[in-house]
Amino acid sequence: MNALAAAASLVPINDKLQLSSMSSTNPVKILTVGSAVGSIRELFAKVKAIDAKHGKFDLLLCTGDFFGPIQTPGENAIDDEVSQLLLGHIEAPIECYVMQGDQPLPEKVVEKFAKTGGELCKNVFLMSKSGTITTAHGLRIACLGGTYEPTIYSSSEAAPGFLSPFFARQTIERLLANSLTKASSKKSYTSLAAIQSTATDSQVIDIFLSNVWPASITQQTTAPLPDPQLSSLGAPPLDEAVTKTRPRYHFAAAGGSPPKFWEREPFVWEGEDARITRFVSLGAFGNEPATGKKQRWFYAFTISPITPTTVLAPKPANATRNPFTSGVRRNLGKRQLDDTAENFIWGAVNQGNKRTKVIPQGELGKPPPGYKCRRCESTDVRNIYGSASVRSFSEAGPISTLPAIVPKDKRHPKVTFAKYAIRDAVGDTGGKKPKPGYNCRACGSENHYLEDCPQANQSRSSRPERGSRRGPPKEISSQIIPTHQDDYTAQVPGGGHLLIVPITHYPTFSTIPSDIAKPIIDETESYKTALRSMYEKFGAAAVVFEVGRLSAKGGHAHVQVVPIPLKLKDRVEETFIKEGTQMGIDFESDPDAALEACQGGRGSYFRVDLPDGRKMVHVMKDHIPFSIQFGRQVLVSLLDMPDRFDWKACMLSEEDDRADAQAFKTAFAPFDPSL
Ligand SMILES: *[C@@H]1O[C@H](CO)[C@@H](O)[C@H](O)[C@H]1NC(C)=O
Ligand SMILES: *[C@@H]1O[C@H](CO)[C@@H](O)[C@H](O)[C@H]1NC(C)=O
Repeated sequence: MNALAAAASLVPINDKLQLSSMSSTNPVKILTVGSAVGSIRELFAKVKAIDAKHGKFDLLLCTGDFFGPIQTPGENAIDDEVSQLLLGHIEAPIECYVMQGDQPLPEKVVEKFAKTGGELCKNVFLMSKSGTITTAHGLRIACLGGTYEPTIYSSSEAAPGFLSPFFARQTIERLLANSLTKASSKKSYTSLAAIQSTATDSQVIDIFLSNVWPASITQQTTAPLPDPQLSSLGAPPLDEAVTKTRPRYHFAAAGGSPPKFWEREPFVWEGEDARITRFVSLGAFGNEPATGKKQRWFYAFTISPITPTTVLAPKPANATRNPFTSGVRRNLGKRQLDDTAENFIWGAVNQGNKRTKVIPQGELGKPPPGYKCRRCESTDVRNIYGSASVRSFSEAGPISTLPAIVPKDKRHPKVTFAKYAIRDAVGDTGGKKPKPGYNCRACGSENHYLEDCPQANQSRSSRPERGSRRGPPKEISSQIIPTHQDDYTAQVPGGGHLLIVPITHYPTFSTIPSDIAKPIIDETESYKTALRSMYEKFGAAAVVFEVGRLSAKGGHAHVQVVPIPLKLKDRVEETFIKEGTQMGIDFESDPDAALEACQGGRGSYFRVDLPDGRKMVHVMKDHIPFSIQFGRQVLVSLLDMPDRFDWKACMLSEEDDRADAQAFKTAFAPFDPSL
């Protein structure tokens, strides 16, 4: 009897089931389904019927987007199902594992996950965005949720959480690290009786669930793709994850939109165990396509944990060359990467991204008139922070939109979590003059090619100390809270003066289009909340302010968050009023109404969130100039640190900056809503 042949055979559910009775290595019978897209009740009903007819299944694996897009209140039929599920009012027919697909997860789901470590309700477990679990049967299942966006992938400074639809370099690193370590070292799941932790010394896994396809999967195959476009939709970074984990089954969900069903021929890995991988991408269960027939959305199979006595399976008759290890593909993958590198213009890459980032220290603003960059004498100081789209803050001439610049060296993003990078663009360096529209990838200048950039040259020569590009000097300003002064001890590690910046470019929060505003604003609020909790731990309260100014000079929406000693928290409001009075800045009696009146770019405003959560809003008047330094000015007055008003006095060495950033990052990690 050939144990493994039976153990590893795919058994399409609509064929006659032929599950050989296994004795030694208990086979596990699994039903895998495609994106439910929020049709949870209906999915469970269908699964129950399938189970009754073809079961008993041991596990239900839900690939792709289980919850569907986040609903706004008022149109929450699907949202209701999520609540119902969390309340335990929807019963899962089989122990079931769900994951993140294309969409940010509903906040209440994330909250529940945070509380329980994964158990959303009886029998329903949410898998981490990336990670590996070991089931009670001894099967190792890895999961990678989210979507791939090259810019975010390479420039993110931390693994995006469930509130972001994307995954990043760190997400995959975490997956690979996690697939090596014991499951028991993960806090999540240890409480779940259903899941055992087993130590393992190898990265190989039994089942891989990923939302997206690996780039190479469409190579070396003759199985016709349901849509030719699918050959270029895969995520190159997933190739590495597959190569390292060599899953026996790999299920994906995001095979086009709407997702198409595709089963690849199996392929074999070199090595003594001659592992076989089978890849299947499922159609969606929810979201019936308007046209065309419904794609196949489920797959049933049995699999047994591999044990020392497992007999090698014969090579399947239709096995192909391994698409991940055959040389041809490597080059293709590389070319694809380079192509996307040319396309590092944020807006062009992705419109619908809904992310914010937290950036300690510094603040957005233009340099004072007459300021010259100390490094290159340029007055055209540009901001470049990670993947955000930015504008120049040039004093002279019209403002141009500057595409965000992502370092070519994608494995080493320029901006670490805690770094507010402002770079000085270097001008004409005497080389060939670039075509209009070109921006040097190292410094943002329009006046020379990357090859002629002294900054690029510098960073090149400073390797192999790879991190050295990360800390460009902050030339515009820096944080209020002193961290390296003998007579003052910052309460919050690293000082704690932060910026929260939506990644997509909008001049103010009020101008974010309504269809995407909610997640961005929600995420900003969740960062504010996280920062408040963190500050509290260190005996500080948060003052948040935003200069929501619409102006010809542009700007990029952001809020600043500054920690103040708790004992000052009741004096914030009066200080804003007092300082404001002197400058002709008044505050509205109904802040919410005032903000509402400014919505959609109808007005400029200055907003403060007081430590107790109340708001203060000043509506700017067209004919009265408003100093963007107002918030800073009020806070240095409140803190009685007049010397901190001049940002130039707050400059730190790169080393100190980096130490601050690291100190903050470490202290914030337990509060970080994106982790
Ligand atoms: C490969 O062969 C197996 C066994 O005959 C079959 O079940 C599977 O559908 C085939 N795969 C493809 C993509 O043709
Ligand atoms: C820039 O590159 C040139 C040529 O490789 C080299 O001679 C020069 O020292 C470099 N400059 C810096 C600042 O590294």
